Amino acid sequence: MKKIKKQHAALLIVALIISFQLIRSAVEHYNARRHYLSEVKNITHFHTPKEEQTLKKLLMDPILPGETFLHSDNCKGCHGYDSAQYALITEDSVDMNLFDDWRATMMANSARDPLWRAKVSHEILVNPSHANELQNTCTSCHAPMGHYTSKYKGYPFYTIADLMNPSDSLGLDGVSCVACHMIGEPGLGSMFSGDIPYDTSHVLYGPFTGVQTGPMQLYVAMTPTWSSHVSEGKMCSSCHTLLVNSVDLAGNPTGNKFIEQATYHEWVNSTYPGDQVVCQSCHMPQAEDSVRIATGYFGIPKHFPFNQHVFQG
Ligand code: HEC
Ligand code: HEC
Ligand code: HEC
Ligand code: HEC
Ligand code: HEC
Repeated sequence: MKKIKKQHAALLIVALIISFQLIRSAVEHYNARRHYLSEVKNITHFHTPKEEQTLKKLLMDPILPGETFLHSDNCKGCHGYDSAQYALITEDSVDMNLFDDWRATMMANSARDPLWRAKVSHEILVNPSHANELQNTCTSCHAPMGHYTSKYKGYPFYTIADLMNPSDSLGLDGVSCVACHMIGEPGLGSMFSGDIPYDTSHVLYGPFTGVQTGPMQLYVAMTPTWSSHVSEGKMCSSCHTLLVNSVDLAGNPTGNKFIEQATYHEWVNSTYPGDQVVCQSCHMPQAEDSVRIATGYFGIPKHFPFNQHVFQG
């Protein structure tokens, strides 16, 4: 009897030592990898673009140096259709996935829109001396991620030719997920005509507090962050009031502003703001049920209210 107990004790000690060693090596491995990743992250110069891309992929950081935005394809995997029927559906299994709803909207197609392209070409024909300024203005709302990438890189204009460049997929992505969710609060509500206060510190603002941040930090290198401005009318203000500089028939600036459209100001001056009825209340109808907002993560909670991305006009 005594002998068996001794054997048990010995086994236990051996098991303890082995598990201690395993944990220690796992922690060491983790720390070493973190150190390695932080070192690579700080490298600013690479031998070749390919080397840079490979290393960045290794880091699972899809944002290349000098870039700010991400294409909606990066959001589709976790915020698109859930074949497991677990997230982005109602209690009755009605699909409400964010990607497919958004994909069909005017905003998702704002840079492909043939009427818009035709109108830009027409404006250039009428005012050839303002061709660059015109295209730069028109792209600020219709192709915001292409326009602002170019602006942050210090280029003077972003044109239709830039938009059509096969290496630029961000411009064509239109008013996309990141083009809205990266809008920061300072200045919002007093900046119009495509002047958009982006927060370029790799955060994406959303309406919920306390969401899991790990998956997005790992796969898209951006942190989902709560902020109340996302649920306010001013979220739409930078692009839904357009004042343009007017020119005379000879193309000379008159110094006057022309109100091309002022949907945001029409709303501000209506009774809706006082009744807490914002743009989102009507254009992003809330689901009756609470909904899980990301696919592939079991155990995440359902959220209420869930705002559908249908944006009908
Ligand atoms: C401040 C943001 C902003 C800027 C800058 C802007 N637009 Fe727009 N544009 C919009 C919005 C918002 C709509 C949708 C309005 C609506 O449906 O009532 C729109 C709609 C349009 C449409 C109609 C598209 C359709 O399919 O119905 C055309 C054409 C257009 N814009 C041309 C232009 C041109 C040309 C320029 C540059 C001179 C320009 N836009 C600059 C915000 C902007
Ligand atoms: C035109 C701007 C706009 C675009 C484009 C947009 N969103 Fe949103 N999104 C919002 C706003 C505004 C809210 C919050 C609404 C509220 O709280 O009233 C929101 C809410 C969310 C939420 C929280 C869940 C919910 O629906 O309430 C997630 C997740 C989200 N968006 C992801 C995405 C993804 C992914 C895309 C692209 C497929 C996208 N958004 C495109 C404006 C936008
Ligand atoms: C690897 C999966 C994954 C990818 C890729 C991903 N997300 Fe998320 N997202 C999540 C998870 C998980 C949450 C938090 C869910 C929870 O805790 O309920 C979330 C939450 C959000 C929220 C809500 C934040 C809040 O505080 O309300 C927004 C907005 C959002 N994501 C936008 C995006 C956008 C835009 C992209 C594309 C650039 C994207 N996500 C890509 C998994 C992902
Ligand atoms: C980055 C600029 C931008 C932001 C931010 C933005 N919009 Fe838009 N929106 C546009 C442009 C550009 C169009 C026109 C696209 C086209 O017709 O080519 C548009 C079109 C629309 C339409 C469709 C109009 C129609 O005639 O079908 C609706 C509805 C709309 N926006 C609502 C919103 C709401 C609500 C918000 C805020 C949550 C918002 N938008 C934020 C740029 C923006
Ligand atoms: C009370 C509900 C409600 C609110 C609040 C609201 N809208 Fe609308 N909006 C509508 C309806 C309904 C239509 C379609 C009107 C029509 O077809 O005549 C519309 C049309 C539009 C259009 C396309 C036509 C146009 O007039 O330019 C855009 C763009 C738009 N809304 C953006 C916004 C923005 C941005 C806000 C907030 C600043 C907002 N809306 C607030 C209900 C609303």
